[in-house]
Amino acid sequence: MKQLLSVLLAFAMSMLSAQSVQSPSGKISVDFKLAGDGQPTYSVNYKSKAVVLESALGIKLKDKPALNVKFEIVGSKTATFNESWKPVLGEQSNIVNHYNELTVSLVQKETHVKMNIIFRAFDEGVAFRYDFPKQADLNYFIISDEVTQFNLTENNKVFWIPGDFDSNEYEYNETKLSEIDNSKINMNNGIGVKSIPGKYMVQTPLMMKSPTGLYVNIFEAAVVNYPVMHLNVDVNNYKLTAQLVPNAIGDKAYLQTPCVSPWRTIMISNDARDIVGSKMILNLNEPSKIDDTSWIKPMKYVGIWWEMHVGKSTWDYAGSQNATNFADAPKASGKHGATTENTKRYIDFAAKNGFDGVLVEGWNVGWEDWNGNWKEEVFDFTTPYPDFDIAALSAYAKAKNVKMIMHHETSGSVANYERHLDRAFENMVKYNYPAVKTGYVGKIIPRGEFHDGQTMVNHFNFVARRAADYKLMVNSHESSHPTGYGRTYPNYVAAEAARGTEFNAWSIGNPPMHETILPFTRLLGGPMDYTPGIFEIKMSYYDKNKTEQVHTTLAKQLALYVTMYSPIQMAADLLENYEKYPDAFQFIKDVAVDWDDSTYLQAEPGDYLTIARKAKGKESWFLGAITDENARKSEVKLDFLTKGKKYKAIIYEDAKDADWKNNPIAYKIKTMVVTSKSKINLNLAPGGGTAISFEPIN
Ligand code: NOJ
Ligand code: CA
Repeated sequence: MKQLLSVLLAFAMSMLSAQSVQSPSGKISVDFKLAGDGQPTYSVNYKSKAVVLESALGIKLKDKPALNVKFEIVGSKTATFNESWKPVLGEQSNIVNHYNELTVSLVQKETHVKMNIIFRAFDEGVAFRYDFPKQADLNYFIISDEVTQFNLTENNKVFWIPGDFDSNEYEYNETKLSEIDNSKINMNNGIGVKSIPGKYMVQTPLMMKSPTGLYVNIFEAAVVNYPVMHLNVDVNNYKLTAQLVPNAIGDKAYLQTPCVSPWRTIMISNDARDIVGSKMILNLNEPSKIDDTSWIKPMKYVGIWWEMHVGKSTWDYAGSQNATNFADAPKASGKHGATTENTKRYIDFAAKNGFDGVLVEGWNVGWEDWNGNWKEEVFDFTTPYPDFDIAALSAYAKAKNVKMIMHHETSGSVANYERHLDRAFENMVKYNYPAVKTGYVGKIIPRGEFHDGQTMVNHFNFVARRAADYKLMVNSHESSHPTGYGRTYPNYVAAEAARGTEFNAWSIGNPPMHETILPFTRLLGGPMDYTPGIFEIKMSYYDKNKTEQVHTTLAKQLALYVTMYSPIQMAADLLENYEKYPDAFQFIKDVAVDWDDSTYLQAEPGDYLTIARKAKGKESWFLGAITDENARKSEVKLDFLTKGKKYKAIIYEDAKDADWKNNPIAYKIKTMVVTSKSKINLNLAPGGGTAISFEPIN
């Protein structure tokens, strides 16, 4: 009898020290367990196959006992959640959020500190976060490290960029986990601020493929009042450990209970399309905190921008960037891009071609002194150069029904920007600018902070919130990677936070596979302002000595409007280049930027991607197909089109002999009538693509 009792007791104890939860379909399961010494751990299975082996959980505190051992389980509960919600702008008008949740309540025996770990199992992955309830034994605390691990089973193929604390503007490396090595990275590659602290540190989202064809993606969601998480890779054992980005004095996060960590996410599928189409990251963020969202609008825009990147004009007025003040160099050089006259030309073009907006960079005083000096007060964000008549241009744009996008380059001086922010936003409201593109090129001030630390995450989120007070939309460049906060503040419409098109103008650029990776990585956290649409692809067009080029065909540039989701999309090339290819430009004029529905037809990270999307509130569809450096042929079924309807399909494709390197501009356009029963052959050139518009025929 005694024996039986102790067996029963042991069974009950083991029940209490192990908990699990499955995704709605049962495909994915996560198991929680207290290991020896009361250490919280978890593991993840996909279709009964181990994907994450027992891995440590917990955090370490500054000047307090670590919260990763000596815990006991004091309770647990499960819940099911199934709702759908409507994003203000998005890839689809309706998003389903369906998961099972397990909350494990822990208490640390000696300190009495309470910590909950919340797991959510979705059909495309799992997420978990730490939750610190309000309690007598833990009020203010400083995180010195997070010990969260991802203990993988295999030497996966991985698409990685170095774990830089300041920049995410890198090309991707495609290697085995065991081959990750930052010492091999080309650092002389056109990026302003670089700080890579470890040889084996990489950034998330980390996209992987196992030797048996399982796609695994590690990322984070809802990074709010917390630093960005990078990953330290044990390249021999495929064990990844969280590395939080520190602040200026080496601490990671300052918190006060009640509070939560961001979600740590692991997406898993044997079909890459499930990952590229997943809305899990958005679903893990809080719903919109803006009640009236009627002022948040999608935008296609042109701008005074690429002309500076290709060297045709300058941001600054006097053409003598660096080491001078505007007061010392007040004479116009004749190369300044943001003049009243040039801006009018862009406004006219936008009005004529049905674009919503015009971005103007270099409109304000400060550019002669902006880059690289770690100077605190460079821009005031309100003083235009003498040749930029902001009042007249505002009236001109209004008369033509064109919206102006303001540019606020901070040169990394966040302290200065925050001091000026309200005046800067008042100035935008005064002159009727509904959107701002912010920029953070340079080392951060407060000095010693990194772009990805808690202070800067708070800054980027704050700018979005404060902009909402003024009903302004934000598109931030050089920010930390978005993790779905755009669900909570839908006016945070886009960010850069990866290597954009601009690199092709003045560096070795982005290889042809780059755009086949970004939708599996950076874009999982939110839209990217990638600035596609370059038609004059080789920089030798501007200067015969230049060898730089965009690593693409012209047709692929069109396809990017569909494959690279953003509700604010630039037609980035010079206006005169669009005038030279009016038939190809027609696609950019026609393509939508806000969608009712998206279907992911073909996907392989690093190789190819084909997506079809239905324009919001319309019957028209658009398809984009892109490839890496390899030519590709395939057949796609058009069964996404509405049954019984006829469509006129206009196909913009690579010419037979097109190729990104030797013949990038060659394209052809053909038209046919199709229905949902039709099939279309795609012929993608090396570095090429196909773009198709489908207009219903009545
Ligand atoms: C880098 C941004 O990504 C780019 O778009 C901008 O033109 C320059 N900084 C200047 O602010
Ligand atoms: Ca940039």
